[in-house]
Amino acid sequence: MKASRKILVLGSGFVSAGFVNYFVQHGETNVKLTIASNLVDQAQKLIDEFAPEIGHAIFFDLKDEAANRKLIKEHDVVVSLLPATLHVVIAKLCVEEKKNMVTTSYISSEMAGLDAAAKAAGIIIMNEIGLDPGIDHCSAKAVFDDIHARGGNVTGFVSYCGGLPAPENSRNPLGYKFSWNPRGVLTAAEAPARFLWNGEVVEYDAGETYAHAIPQKQYPGFNLEGVANRDSIKYRELYDIPEAETVLRGTLRFPGFATMVLTFRALGLTDTTEYGDGAAPATWPALLSRVLNVPQDISSLRAAVEAKVQERFAGSQGRVKDALNGLQWFGVFLETTKVDLATRSPIDSLTSLLNAKLVYGKGERDLVILTHEFTYQLPDQPRSHGATGKQRKTSTLVLYGDPIGSHRALTAMARCVGIPCAIATHLVLDGVITRTGVCGPMTPDLYKPLLASLAQNGIHLDEFEEDVVES
Ligand SMILES: *[C@@H]1O[C@H](CO)[C@@H](O)[C@H](O)[C@H]1NC(C)=O
Repeated sequence: MKASRKILVLGSGFVSAGFVNYFVQHGETNVKLTIASNLVDQAQKLIDEFAPEIGHAIFFDLKDEAANRKLIKEHDVVVSLLPATLHVVIAKLCVEEKKNMVTTSYISSEMAGLDAAAKAAGIIIMNEIGLDPGIDHCSAKAVFDDIHARGGNVTGFVSYCGGLPAPENSRNPLGYKFSWNPRGVLTAAEAPARFLWNGEVVEYDAGETYAHAIPQKQYPGFNLEGVANRDSIKYRELYDIPEAETVLRGTLRFPGFATMVLTFRALGLTDTTEYGDGAAPATWPALLSRVLNVPQDISSLRAAVEAKVQERFAGSQGRVKDALNGLQWFGVFLETTKVDLATRSPIDSLTSLLNAKLVYGKGERDLVILTHEFTYQLPDQPRSHGATGKQRKTSTLVLYGDPIGSHRALTAMARCVGIPCAIATHLVLDGVITRTGVCGPMTPDLYKPLLASLAQNGIHLDEFEEDVVES
């Protein structure tokens, strides 16, 4: 029998449930899990539901360095599922205590700065091993390396990922539901974006990215839009595909999301400035009156809102109508729609409204979709009549969550983020992953065992290939 191995999991959100469940499913009775959280009741509930045999909950305070050092010392590997900005504090302790660490977050420059120290300590700080980043990196990098190994060139890479409600649970103006704080989703939608398209750099300013949503045709049965996500161009280097003329990473949404996000912004509802006197307006009409600087009567409010929406959508009547119907659905013109008085700025008040209206109900499911499209050229490619000599490979993952409220229910997002992270942790514990330093899953020693284990755990991308007929 193997000696017992101790995993410290920081954070008790839904991803932690996906993580813990993996080890329970594998019957890993010699693995002991500690879930450390500032919400110790939430952690205990998670243990009771998912891992009563192998887990226990403990209170955790990021500021209590002495306690955290002791906790880290007592474990073999540390998994941080905390908000990304909090990883570095933990990573520094892991370096000092020579303990391996795993996160699902993008590598921040502060984290990258720990690379030499981590190598000197002989530990790995493995990051970017959730869904995106995570499964997307592993699956894309495996294809790039294969094309290069066959002497080919990658000419294009277009990748979209989205966490959505199941289509039958998407009936609201955004076609979207929140399983965590909407503020992050709203802030992400405000970000500028840049990508490479047929050799040209395309850039969208902050707040404008969602004005360029592109209908997606991957599946006739899914009505999807894709929106560019921040800086795609740096992935030419990160993925080592300098020859690529198209590089675009984006987010998938159902139609309606882009229109409503643009509408909220046009009305000033994504403004982060605190209310002047510190107090939120009592009702939504009062809030609209304040942000639009018009009297609070219904006809003034409607006229001001319609003018902003007409301007935003340049008079495109379909979108203007969708926007106005959407606002109506949220009840923003009704005195009975109260503003959450604990909120301090328009974006916080909006976040609170979205949180209240766009929740998953009992029995509803979420959905994760990941799609990659690779275009590439291999040496001595036979050119059939009319073909360009280029080939296209499409890889897709579509995964549904369990109905909310059922016993041991896991959302698709909890699975798609928690399982890769758990697999990486398992491979580190088993000594299959031996690399040291700060890294993501970009190299074959990491992505090969990760992809193999993901497939064994029901997460694999369907692939198909075709010739590109027109360029
Ligand atoms: C790949 O690109 C290089 C540089 O442009 C070119 O010389 C080579 O022929 C290309 N290979 C294929 C298979 O198209």
